[in-house]
Amino acid sequence: MAKTVLTAVAWPYANGPRHIGHVAGFGVPSDVFARYHRMVGSDVLMVSGTDEHGTPLLVQAEKEGVSVQELADRYNRQIVQDLAGLGLTYDLFTRTTTRNHYAVTQELFLGLYRNGYMIRETTMGAISPSTGRTLPDRYIEGTCPICGAGGARGDQCDNCGNQLDPADLVDPVSKINGETPEFIETEHFLLDLPALAEALGDWLRERKDWRPNVLRFSLNLLEDLRPRAMSRDIDWGVPIPLEGWSENNAKKLYVWFDAVVGYLSASIEWAHRSGDPEAWRRWWTGDDALSYYFMGKDNITFHSQIWPAELLGYDGRGASGGEPGEFGALNLPTEVVSSEYLTMSGSKFSSSKGVVIYVEDFLAEFGPDPLRYFIAVAGPENNDTDFTWDEFVRRINNELVGSWGNLVNRTVSMAHKNFGEVPTPGELAAEDRELLDEAFAAYDVVGAALEQSRFRAGITEAMRIVNRANQYIAATEPWKLAKDPEQAERLATVLWTALQVVSDANTLLTPYLPASAQKIHETLGRTGEWAAMPRIEEVADDMPVDPVGAGVPEAGRSYPVITGDYAAQQAHWGRTDMAPGTALSKPTPVFTKLDTELAETGPEWAPIQPQGEQEA
Ligand code: MF3
Ligand code: ZN
Repeated sequence: MAKTVLTAVAWPYANGPRHIGHVAGFGVPSDVFARYHRMVGSDVLMVSGTDEHGTPLLVQAEKEGVSVQELADRYNRQIVQDLAGLGLTYDLFTRTTTRNHYAVTQELFLGLYRNGYMIRETTMGAISPSTGRTLPDRYIEGTCPICGAGGARGDQCDNCGNQLDPADLVDPVSKINGETPEFIETEHFLLDLPALAEALGDWLRERKDWRPNVLRFSLNLLEDLRPRAMSRDIDWGVPIPLEGWSENNAKKLYVWFDAVVGYLSASIEWAHRSGDPEAWRRWWTGDDALSYYFMGKDNITFHSQIWPAELLGYDGRGASGGEPGEFGALNLPTEVVSSEYLTMSGSKFSSSKGVVIYVEDFLAEFGPDPLRYFIAVAGPENNDTDFTWDEFVRRINNELVGSWGNLVNRTVSMAHKNFGEVPTPGELAAEDRELLDEAFAAYDVVGAALEQSRFRAGITEAMRIVNRANQYIAATEPWKLAKDPEQAERLATVLWTALQVVSDANTLLTPYLPASAQKIHETLGRTGEWAAMPRIEEVADDMPVDPVGAGVPEAGRSYPVITGDYAAQQAHWGRTDMAPGTALSKPTPVFTKLDTELAETGPEWAPIQPQGEQEA
């Protein structure tokens, strides 16, 4: 059903190139969802960008010996390439070091502050006794005060998922040099989660259709709601927009406070660049607008608690009351769609040597669709899953090449060879009608799965239709019919039926495999753009905004964004009739079979470590 759908995709840190685990969590699922919704006619806005603040950037910059902005510039460009190459159809993929993002983040802070949800408090901050420098939260480790697990970090416990403050940790030690940090008094702004607890609970308890893991985890977080610091002793980030604070270059807003605001700031930037600066409101303040947030599971806390709390407080909907700020009352997420992890550390990988599979290398060798296929069909939708070359080769060769590619190729080849065009069918037999009906019914089945973000179920059904069509061809034996001139009409009917079902399967697979869907569209004798692709554009930081404080990005810098014209594509969710008489050419294979040796060795750029060497 056509709806107004914000597709909000987690913002990757610009601290390195992306590996396939990253894009399995947030990338492919969100794009399948957005592409499907555009095909049913929904008004989709898909936004994200690189997350460029926080200690992950500082630490990497120090390692590489460059300034943080230089590091962010480099990896922003790299990540834009990676994600565009994968065919992810962002309406806007931007970054957090834009003047607009700073200004929108500051407005959110001020709205929360005015409504009384930002409490100023003296807290205990960690410093290194030997150097006197502030210790980033992530670099302090200890025992979790909530679940008792060891190895909890100063910002978060990965075991129970709770956010922590370093001063909460039992037996804290610095990961940098092993010393015990010293805690000194420092002033910060805390988000008053207890004042928002009831509103958060009311909202969360209405979310019945989320993935069970995500809902359970999120409800659990309500048990421990304490005020959380939204500023940090750090010199890299969005300035606190208050007098006496904004010029202090040693205190900034917490990276997670600003990163989640990115969904809104990117929507506003998109509207500005589209020529209708108010257009973002359709997805943020409309009664019937839906918003789906896609991410890996380590991000759940920030999307089912911190971001909704920021929105509720900004809207003035917590226990302290208040009024919406200049953006008006903003919508809370409809659903937080979170994936588990795709690991690359299975028995065949050396985890100690840390073989990482980068998106860039993967795309250069295989193109986007094999990775998209693997993630959709075997990715970590509900469980952690391990990527192995063995399974990759098997799935691509048996399923993508063997079932799907082969169906397309032999159907079009036979039609081309015998008719040179899409043949005109005679009267349909029962077996023809059955197959056609099944393919037609699949639009509803796959569509229902995709509306619920059940991507694996959707592609499984689409591939079931592919397999049914292969069985149909095996049963009707068109190559035999072709030898008997008396059977010419039956041959035409069988091939027309098969071509129609190839067209249906191609439509069903378009959200998953857009690049090959375009090729198959052309193989079927059709022209024009079937599945739209994103493009990279260089833009200037030129929005009419006025962020305040020390270290605000200068106006006029240029940066790459991912965007695209997706409305013009022909792809739509439903049957496209196979028109008799359409000229067909001899098809060329759509997918390439992988060398089975790859399953044993892996590629040169991510080789499988021999078992023996792993112990060493
Ligand atoms: N940068 C974070 C990560 O890689 C994700 C941020 S998602 C956002 O885990 F929404 F907060 F931006
Ligand atoms: Zn814990």
